[in-house]
Amino acid sequence: MSVFAGKHILLGVTGSIAAYKAADLASKLTQQAALVDVILTSAGESFVTPLTFQSVTGRRAYTEKDLWGSEAHVLHVGLGRSADMLVIAPCTADTIAKLANGIADNLLTVTALAAQCPLLLAPAMDGGMFDHPATQANLAKLKERGALIVGPAEGHLASGLSGKGRMVEPTEIIGHIRLLFGRSGKLAGKKIVVTAGGTQEPLDPVRVLTNHSSGKQGYALAEAALASGADVALVSAPTALDAPVGARLVCVQSAEQMLNAVLTELADADVLVMAAAAADFRPKNAAKDKMKKRDGIPQIELEAAPDILKTVAGRRSKMKRLKVVAGFAAESRDLLENASEKLKSKHLDLIAANDISATDAGFAVDTNRVTLLFADGTNEALPLMSKSEVAERIIEHISKLLE
Ligand code: PMT
Repeated sequence: MSVFAGKHILLGVTGSIAAYKAADLASKLTQQAALVDVILTSAGESFVTPLTFQSVTGRRAYTEKDLWGSEAHVLHVGLGRSADMLVIAPCTADTIAKLANGIADNLLTVTALAAQCPLLLAPAMDGGMFDHPATQANLAKLKERGALIVGPAEGHLASGLSGKGRMVEPTEIIGHIRLLFGRSGKLAGKKIVVTAGGTQEPLDPVRVLTNHSSGKQGYALAEAALASGADVALVSAPTALDAPVGARLVCVQSAEQMLNAVLTELADADVLVMAAAAADFRPKNAAKDKMKKRDGIPQIELEAAPDILKTVAGRRSKMKRLKVVAGFAAESRDLLENASEKLKSKHLDLIAANDISATDAGFAVDTNRVTLLFADGTNEALPLMSKSEVAERIIEHISKLLE
């Protein structure tokens, strides 16, 4: 189950042009089954309406008129005390100053004083304001009290200036919320190595032999491990994906480089999850120079690429901390037989068998349909679900195997 599910997130939205991004943030959090209550300051309302937020969260959005409404004297206390996290995104210099000095002159700042939960701020302001000593002093005070400041990013600002002041993207804020919620998760204190993406085996300086892996399943596993509090090393072949916030990204290209990176990371790891589509074969002799058409059609001789899981199996007795090794089986026929054979031959604790011939599972799509096979002979067939949900289920099983 998503670490966001059922969590009460109080989202403060203040008077910055970045307020339009807060609607996307609210929507994404709601899609992760969080309960998002929005508080719009008057200045925030100048940029975006309560209706926008009510439409994406399905819950009321509060404004200044609610502060003096019928339930006024309890609203802010109720909101503040029921929240699992107070996120203020965008957070203006003015609101930062109020929070730092305990000023409570609107519903948001009154609620912030009543809140008992972690505070995450995503600053947004125009050129020069962020670096102003007053803003920096206020931020330092808030950090000292445990607030998490996310951003701002460098970039184009509303004034036409460029510089530090743009609110970070909603996905980055969500990544930090995931880490905060995951801190006390079942995998806290554990190091998980996850591999992802399709390795690239050079043919010549320009061409590679690769596959269709997008990295989505591996990155989802890294996110799920982070949401359970793990320290995550993500060994990734080239993908178009941003590394999940909090994961330590180790970029590789070939199966050989992936093997070396995995062996290095396993020196102090508890778990390995091989979701990457590492090459089984590679060109025996990669050409030093770009192969030219005028030289005719090249005959390419292939050789075996290093089998990472087999190599790990051969060294596992020396890897004292390594407790769980999970793999994937990408099959187009005889799914369970082939997966079961790999489970045994690669000495895995768990293998996720996925039928990559299906159009809604396997490479590049957002969903997957896997059957989990365990070393004790049991198995669990999961219905079609998102790769994030598959990842959460696999991480839950890995947590149990670690107990
Ligand atoms: O990345 P996506 O687009 O989201 O697609 C996800 C996926 C289909 C790539 C993923 O779900 C998946 O099936 N990954 C494993 C792909 C693969 O290489 O499967 P395989 O049956 O060929 O290999 C079996 C296991 O051995 C895998 O865990 C693999 O990582 C590992 N292996 C493979 C080759 C190699 N040289 N060394 C290995 O350790």
